[in-house]
Amino acid sequence: MRSLITLLIGLVAGVLLTVIAMNTLRKATAYPVGVMAVMAAQMGHIDRQIEAKACAGEDFEAPLATLVALGNSLEPAFLPTADDAAFSRYAADYRLAVERMLAAPPTDCASAERSMDAVSASCQACHAQFKG
Ligand code: HEC
Repeated sequence: MRSLITLLIGLVAGVLLTVIAMNTLRKATAYPVGVMAVMAAQMGHIDRQIEAKACAGEDFEAPLATLVALGNSLEPAFLPTADDAAFSRYAADYRLAVERMLAAPPTDCASAERSMDAVSASCQACHAQFKG
């Protein structure tokens, strides 16, 4: 009987500790994964506008404003990394690319695509080194 109770207590404690550990992991990754998910959603939004040939400057203002604002969350979400200086350089390149696009909004779909290529390149450059 005693060993059965001990076994049950052990099982319950194991389940509880697993739940606590999973919750901690989820919280630790929610911020960075969330920042990336919203970035990807905004990029998708702009891509679909280009596909729909809706390429006036104001069509991109809202998603671009979000992309610019998210640029300020890169370091808070991801640091510390294996190489914080390099991470901040990629983050600065990203911020430059989105700020440029916001400051000089595309006037047609071809220029919108060029600006988006520059932004995507800044995403990919960081991913190449930091995304496992
Ligand atoms: C300065 C670095 C940096 C920049 C710039 C950056 N990312 Fe990321 N991104 C990361 C890192 C690091 C990960 C890996 C996160 C992880 O696995 O915990 C990641 C992961 C992702 C993921 C996968 C998220 C997941 O579920 O694990 C997506 C989607 C993504 N990024 C989209 C983008 C898009 C779109 C852009 C540009 C608009 C961008 N990222 C710019 C660093 C960056």
